[in-house]
Amino acid sequence: MNKSVFITGATSGFGRAAARRFAEAGYALVLTGRRRERLEALEQELSGKVAVHVIELDVRDEAAVKKAVDELPQKFSSVHVLLNNAGLALAPEPAQDVALQDWHTMIDTNVKGLVNVTHALLPTLIRLGAGTSIVNIGSTAGKWPYKGSHVYGATKAFVEQFSYNLRCDLQGTGVRVTDIAPGMAETEFTLVRTKGDQAASDQLYGNTTPMSAEDIAEQMFYVATLPAHLNINFLEIQPVRQVWAGMAVDRDE
Ligand SMILES: NC(=O)c1ccc[n+]([C@@H]2O[C@H](COP(=O)([O-])OP(=O)(O)OC[C@H]3O[C@@H](n4cnc5c(N)ncnc54)[C@H](OP(=O)(O)O)[C@@H]3O)[C@@H](O)[C@H]2O)c1
Repeated sequence: MNKSVFITGATSGFGRAAARRFAEAGYALVLTGRRRERLEALEQELSGKVAVHVIELDVRDEAAVKKAVDELPQKFSSVHVLLNNAGLALAPEPAQDVALQDWHTMIDTNVKGLVNVTHALLPTLIRLGAGTSIVNIGSTAGKWPYKGSHVYGATKAFVEQFSYNLRCDLQGTGVRVTDIAPGMAETEFTLVRTKGDQAASDQLYGNTTPMSAEDIAEQMFYVATLPAHLNINFLEIQPVRQVWAGMAVDRDE
């Protein structure tokens, strides 16, 4: 098959599971992330099945993103699917207690990184036209406020609105845009958010049934491989055992 998928954040969680899912379907894989050894391990695992090109890439680095896209080997240059998945939450403490740098890191990665990659790949997607897809990974945090979400949730609200706005501009090109907004899924997400607190991660995902990375990868694959005339705009997905929190009321003692 002469189609490739460009995945940001392929070293862990949803991105790694998506690499495996698209490999099953025969897509050539462009796998990116900052941790080279993990990219190489995935390349070793999947290159028996499909063509794999790994790029050590920080999505915050605009020039490196552009270079990675400009220098894609011919075999990988028919990017039919862009999975804008790289992202992170930091600082689960209340807004007033967090370091400004953590806010900047989330904005730089989840917002600026995502637009860097989108901007670099838009010409390719438009050239290939009908049936191509941009799949952005938002979050339920982009829609539903909760304590400690502050800038993280706001970055994911950006992803949702950016996805809709892109749809408007891409009308007539055939390029599809979807925002997938997952709820709780067990990946390294909480380990990153808590800066390595394995107990906090185990506690969050313990004694319940979170979604898995494979659950989300299946949805990514689904929206990107629908018939070319269909666009899922927004796909919010949660584990059955997770619902919204109630309104919090501040009361006098
Ligand atoms: N898990 C959840 O409950 C959940 C729910 C809703 C939305 N999400 C979103 O889903 C996406 C994937 O998260 P996950 O749950 O799979 O977490 P994860 O296991 O921590 O994976 C995050 C991925 O993002 C990459 N990444 C982070 N910063 C990057 C940067 N500056 N440049 C390039 N890659 C970067 C990481 O790769 P390197 O560290 O190797 O660069 C890693 O591959 C994120 O956008 C997250 O916000 C997660």
